[in-house]
Amino acid sequence: MGPSGRRTSALKESLHASPDGRRISAHPEDEGESVSASHRRLREHPAHKSHAALDTHKASTGVIWTTEQAQKHGFSDEPEKWANLGQGAPEVGDIDGCFPRPKSIPLNDNSGEYGPTAGIKSLRTAVANLYNHDYRQGKESQYTWENVCIVPGGRAGLIRIAAVLGNAYLAYFTPDYSVYEQASISMLGLFRSFVAIPTPLSAADGYHVHADKIREELARGTSVILTSNPRNPTGHALHPEELSLIQDICRDKATLIFDEFYSGYRYDTDCDGSTISAASNVIDVDRDDVLLIDGLTKRFRLPGWRVAWIVGPKDFIKALSSSGSYLDGGCNVPFQEAAVSMLEPALVRKEMAALQSHFKAKRDYVLKRLGEIGFRLGDQEIPESTFYIWLSLEKLEPPLPKNSPIDISNGLAFFDALLKEKTIVVPGIFFDLNPAKRRDLFDSPCHHFVRISYGPTMERLQMGLDGIERVVKRARGEFGHSDSAVDDEPDQKSNQRPVQSSKSQANSGITVKGNATSKDDIRDDQMKHNRHITDDTRGSSDDTFKVTGSGPIRPIMASSTPYRRFTLDSDLP
Ligand SMILES: Cc1ncc(COP(=O)(O)O)c(C=O)c1O
Repeated sequence: MGPSGRRTSALKESLHASPDGRRISAHPEDEGESVSASHRRLREHPAHKSHAALDTHKASTGVIWTTEQAQKHGFSDEPEKWANLGQGAPEVGDIDGCFPRPKSIPLNDNSGEYGPTAGIKSLRTAVANLYNHDYRQGKESQYTWENVCIVPGGRAGLIRIAAVLGNAYLAYFTPDYSVYEQASISMLGLFRSFVAIPTPLSAADGYHVHADKIREELARGTSVILTSNPRNPTGHALHPEELSLIQDICRDKATLIFDEFYSGYRYDTDCDGSTISAASNVIDVDRDDVLLIDGLTKRFRLPGWRVAWIVGPKDFIKALSSSGSYLDGGCNVPFQEAAVSMLEPALVRKEMAALQSHFKAKRDYVLKRLGEIGFRLGDQEIPESTFYIWLSLEKLEPPLPKNSPIDISNGLAFFDALLKEKTIVVPGIFFDLNPAKRRDLFDSPCHHFVRISYGPTMERLQMGLDGIERVVKRARGEFGHSDSAVDDEPDQKSNQRPVQSSKSQANSGITVKGNATSKDDIRDDQMKHNRHITDDTRGSSDDTFKVTGSGPIRPIMASSTPYRRFTLDSDLP
């Protein structure tokens, strides 16, 4: 054996393997970390677990979590039996009046080559023409291909923009597309040059982004504003005059980033195919700092193609092309080529008109069914855009009895109950802020909301609404517990309410039948009741899941009090 072989075997002899044989250390097990409580505590922290470099804040999002929960109930085995009203995906099949979705795309000898990171010129030109036709007729300043950057999907576009922003305060408004909030710690936060500042909007006025709010943002020194318009998840859009005023206020003061992915889903113009865009109010396409993001994902119902675009001043577009070269490498060429002919303006108008009629009918169907189930939605809750309904569970009339067999009073509990009906919605909390993951979820203004997507086909919507109806009926005690579509998972049983003792019913002070007390009284009392449950649960020691440091949301559950509560001193999923 040579000197290096001897050195290797001497080193090997001085090392000790961990009991599972995966790690070696200079210290034997009985002298190493396992004998030190401090070290064990440190190891408990998710960031110090087996994937040393994995930031768990970024490892799981609300949407991923909802899908994972559904998978536990068999979603991936039999997706055809499920109504996924959670994912923000439009139906992708053929629709009356829309062009047939392509079933194949041509490839040629060059199809395998790298494409330009700003996209192929023909598609950039087609996008510029569409914007000039739809929003800039008669205006002196017109978009050209140099004002367009093709990107591999909306999120890739947002990341490219984030990468080129300089030192700035960036304002966004909640609730909005959940990615922005995740972005403030994850995506936007990846690029440390700017600070993302969330501003909560008020439910009382339908989460409206008032021009006054924008003025306040500028006053505090904000120089970038990011918003979806029309808005996910509330389904509202800025009125054209207000949009124009906001652009006037911000001109030469702030960069406006309008995420216009739902621009085609508009139901307030008799489904005539007209769409809304901030492009209409730009004075000079190269001077107004207005960046517009849209793509094939939603309004052309091709989310899997990953073709999207950013329209804006040339200087921004050049920078976005560069950021593409170090971030994502650009959008695939064959799909870009196939997209060019779809953007012919007359075809787009026809497509949008058919899309609007089809989706408006679905919206009206869902609203009607929700009304029949007992949800009393006011004007503010009727979305005029997108394919989402932001549903408050407090709108149920008559309110649920206090001793209802299952808890569906908040979005998370409603989501859980719906899994048994093979129906997915998104709990509202995933659209809310969650500073340092410390907020008790019951304190979130979005806690009693869910987002329902009417993107899927009518058939799926019917299945989903049937599921919602069954869950509400079960909560009203109109069904036996065994009537659900999916067998109970052991941990799902935690959402069943215990039967209230007659004493506690008497103490609740609420006469449920006959609606004898006011809605506010009932709500107040429910809050006290929930708080009582929470405190009870916190107090019980045996079977309580320990919350240690940060980590995925864990139920705190006691066998004696089968309520499930989630805590946020751990990470949001
Ligand atoms: C407002 C908004 N912008 C962008 C996107 C993302 O688009 P993509 O799937 O192309 O990344 C979504 C998707 O849900 C969205 O709701």
